[in-house]
Amino acid sequence: MRKTILTGDRPTGPLHLGHYVGSLENRVGLQHEYATYVLIADLQALTDHAEQPELVRRNVLEVALDYLAVGIDPTAATIVVQSGVPELAELTVYYLNLVTVARLGRNPTVKDEMRQKGFDADVSAGFLVYPVSQAADITAFKAGVVPVGEDQLPMIEQTVEIVRRFNRLYGPVLVEPTALVPKHARLPGTDGPSKMGKSLGNAIFLSDPTDVVAQKVMGMYTDPRHIRAELPGTVEGNPVFSYLDAFDPDAAAVDDLKRRYRAGGLGDVALKRRLIEVLERFLGPIRARRIEFARDPAAVARILREGTARGRAVAQQTLGEVRRALRLDDRSD
Ligand code: TRP
Repeated sequence: MRKTILTGDRPTGPLHLGHYVGSLENRVGLQHEYATYVLIADLQALTDHAEQPELVRRNVLEVALDYLAVGIDPTAATIVVQSGVPELAELTVYYLNLVTVARLGRNPTVKDEMRQKGFDADVSAGFLVYPVSQAADITAFKAGVVPVGEDQLPMIEQTVEIVRRFNRLYGPVLVEPTALVPKHARLPGTDGPSKMGKSLGNAIFLSDPTDVVAQKVMGMYTDPRHIRAELPGTVEGNPVFSYLDAFDPDAAAVDDLKRRYRAGGLGDVALKRRLIEVLERFLGPIRARRIEFARDPAAVARILREGTARGRAVAQQTLGEVRRALRLDDRSD
């Protein structure tokens, strides 16, 4: 049997270059080899956007357009809207019994996010337990492979723990997933070494127009001590080079630029102009496809409806097995 891939994104804004490097690239590359499910995680988005349901709703379509634009092929991969699969919520309830509150509180990604969002003691129960609902997402589809950025590794670990505990207590129903992390390290934001994030003001979005990309690149952080073109510059930790590594298909040319930058004589402006060209070559076709799909929202809605129905059938099957394992299947006695 073909192995199954599942991965997803919270629809809280458009997707950016970090998402591409972190996971979209792997999904597009593997969609013909694996049974691939891509989840638009609108329920998870509500865990930190409970007060903005309209924003989440709007971004379901935006994320779908981003998927289609980067080449997720709806005839190969199944795009599923999470809220259309209520079975995931039921699975979450069962899994919550297999996880301690203390364990949830130790999840490093959740802790980071709480700090970033200033949740402190006010964190909602829903947000604290979202890793458990993510375990439901992954296991409902019996996914063996989850392509994600490295910030999501704690979620996969948590899922593995739940799967082991479930299978040990109730029988071998669930599949243990492995994470597939990208070949490039996490992509830094335009403002320096921290990671690119959609709410951090340091992202280049897949849907950004040419002039916006150029403007963001020209404002990028480089080596703060490289104040004149003649001076030697530092390549390590310089986000312009991280982007060239990730998006310039000509690795030899990038090596040559690194050599010249280190030696002195290559200015930041020239380097950035080169990155603008490289990004334009990458983003141009994505932008064009996005505009094409955006012209026909009814067709996109149909793709989501059909994908969600197919995904739901799989989740129902798993939920049935889970309920039987939990002795919840037969109420006639
Ligand atoms: N947590 C992921 C994010 O923050 C989104 C997500 C939801 C996900 N369900 C998933 C990722 C299942 C991988 C597998 O973007």
